[in-house]
Amino acid sequence: MTPTVPRHIAVVMDGNGRWANRRFMPRFVGHKHGVDALVRTVQACADRGVEYLTVFAFSSENWKRPEEEVSGLMGLVLVAVSRYLQKLASEGVRIRIVGDRAAVSDKVRAAWDEAEAATRHNTRITLSVAFNYGGRWDIVQACRRAIAAGTPAAELSEERLAEFMSLAHAPDPDLFIRTGGEVRISNFLLWQVAYAELFFTDCLWPDFDGAELDRALAAYSARDRRFGSVKPAPVPAPDVHGVTSSS
Ligand code: FPP
Repeated sequence: MTPTVPRHIAVVMDGNGRWANRRFMPRFVGHKHGVDALVRTVQACADRGVEYLTVFAFSSENWKRPEEEVSGLMGLVLVAVSRYLQKLASEGVRIRIVGDRAAVSDKVRAAWDEAEAATRHNTRITLSVAFNYGGRWDIVQACRRAIAAGTPAAELSEERLAEFMSLAHAPDPDLFIRTGGEVRISNFLLWQVAYAELFFTDCLWPDFDGAELDRALAAYSARDRRFGSVKPAPVPAPDVHGVTSSS
């Protein structure tokens, strides 16, 4: 069977803290290696023809983490943008940020604006970074914007609401990957993953690489996607006399 490459992959990059703990290092070191894994994964996805990659970098609930870890993650945005933006831009990556920007600092907002502006004409792969993002927040903000745009209640269809979701620039994810061994969606892209194939792996995010991506792609290729429909029944093969075995 020809392997099918998903157009859009969504990833919950879990396991950075445990990766660091196992090495007796602070959790922040795991997040730093997580950035390297992310850059590696963008390249691996682009090489395999994936058009959209969306990653969960900071959830609306991550503010509950110790202040030191939260500020470390915010600082990491600045480090990641200054270290990798040129490289990603030159490799044809278009960067989009999705999430509630109101609560992040001016510096972080400026870094995200810079990343989007520097890559907006790129077309090889779109990397959407979900930052201060929650799936429920996304649905609520889409409803608010649809109403503010004057949509009458009777015209608020799935298609109309989708225009206001924060991933309106991408098709729905085909494949949802979560690393780190937990088997849940954790309020990521609730609207968009309606028909995504789910792949969970014990691999901790900093260890994620092309080989692990290929395992997810192989599992995806073997799935039977029906989108709520049914497959036509197979036609019986003709026997040697040209009549089918069921006739
Ligand atoms: C979950 O691992 C990971 C996060 C909350 C942060 C993910 C961030 C990155 C991979 C870095 C990318 C960042 C930028 C700035 C683009 P965890 O900390 O919950 O790990 P654990 O489950 O082992 O504790």
